[in-house]
Amino acid sequence: MKTVAVVGVQWGDEGKGKIVDLLAADADVVVRFQGGNNAAHTLVVDGEKFILRMIPAGALQGKVCVIGNGMVVDPLALVEEIDGLKRRGRALSPADLKISYDAHLILPYHGAIDRAREARLGGRAIGTTGFGIGPAYEDKMARVGLRFEDMNERAAFAERLERNAREKNALLKGVLKAAPLKVTELVEQVLRARNRLRPYLCDTAAYVREAIGAGRRVLFEGAHGVMLDIDHGTYPYVTSSNCGASAVFGGAGVAPGQLDGVLGISKAYATRVGGGPFPSEMSGALADSLRDEGAEFGSATGRPRRIGWFDAVLARHAVRLNGMVGLAVTKLDVLTGIDPLKICVGYESGKTRFDEVPASRRLLAKVKPVYETLPGWSDDVSGARNLGDLPVNARRYLARIAELSGTRLMMVGVGAGREAAIVIENPFAD
Ligand code: GDP
Ligand code: IMO
Ligand code: MG
Repeated sequence: MKTVAVVGVQWGDEGKGKIVDLLAADADVVVRFQGGNNAAHTLVVDGEKFILRMIPAGALQGKVCVIGNGMVVDPLALVEEIDGLKRRGRALSPADLKISYDAHLILPYHGAIDRAREARLGGRAIGTTGFGIGPAYEDKMARVGLRFEDMNERAAFAERLERNAREKNALLKGVLKAAPLKVTELVEQVLRARNRLRPYLCDTAAYVREAIGAGRRVLFEGAHGVMLDIDHGTYPYVTSSNCGASAVFGGAGVAPGQLDGVLGISKAYATRVGGGPFPSEMSGALADSLRDEGAEFGSATGRPRRIGWFDAVLARHAVRLNGMVGLAVTKLDVLTGIDPLKICVGYESGKTRFDEVPASRRLLAKVKPVYETLPGWSDDVSGARNLGDLPVNARRYLARIAELSGTRLMMVGVGAGREAAIVIENPFAD
């Protein structure tokens, strides 16, 4: 395949960053096409840890990185991210990083609105990252958002920014009972970021289309996961974008026939940050130990992640919805020493059994999981580089996951480092 999309199968944090970094070695261009800095993609290269929020995870492989039109971009946070990489010897020039003119801006008032709304929801809060993702996408859809293109004319941009900020302040004060923002300071801050980011602006859709036309390999890096998808996830406990492969077309500006395949990324178990249904969630000592072993604390917000068993019903849903040609199963190493292991293979509600995701997402919050039990293993798997290096029970566990998910196993993660993986089938192999 020449063009591959990487998509999260669960509720995000599946290890997409690590897999994208690994696959980027064989790609020419890496493109983010949705979401914003609610994403946090962790890369561990030569023992050094990097967390990328908006910059695609091809940056450490020296590949061209594209911020597509479907993203929402916080200009202040992006400048910080670019500077952070530069301080660590990874400067990105406009030849390395290309930002779409059409991407919408996340402005300081979006974050303030997001946080104020969450505070007012109390126990019913979504548990957002508080970075203004929902309010920024709202403005985009309401056709009042500001885009990078609007930065071209400084005075007109400053004027619209100021007008929007005053309107949002009225909302913050009058309706949400939150503190308004200082408009002059806000405008100055954003104008400073504007000056820094303008050299990176580009017609990214044309750039990506031309790259594909020229036979270059393009990797599309999804953020979040299918269960956080605005349409197909556990609404309203979702993020505000489509997180599946369909978003590649709208969010990067490429045609459906130009995407050769979709690789799903899933943990060998499951996690979720924030509120919402999680049928295979576990609690108690085992959850605590998996959280510690797997370092399951949100990379974006530091919140402890909720922990559960692998849910094959949801995985099958994600695979079918996205036509995933294969799975990369990460964090197998974290399950070492847990015996027996469970896989959720269906749900029950009263006398009704579900083998598929119930249409009602409210019901999903109430169902009881049906488990299949498999034997675990105790040998350290972190040094495995071939399937044959794994204990037989680990291989059986992986084979069962692939079988139940309805796709094939292409990669396995056995540690956080770039090298800690088993590549059974490289999607970029001809
Ligand atoms: P993403 O948002 O999907 O890119 O995932 P995150 O980076 O937010 O969270 C995944 C976490 O698991 C990060 O801390 C990674 O360094 C780590 N990780 C990824 N793959 C593996 C793996 O196979 N084993 C272990 N132990 N850690 C992994
Ligand atoms: P990556 O790309 C995990 C979750 C938030 C919250 C819900 C809505 O790193 O996998 P938002 O701020 O998007 O409005 O929050 O979505 N969420 C994620 N959880 N990983 C992510 O991204 C997430 N992006 C959003 O925790 O529950
Ligand atoms: Mg993450």
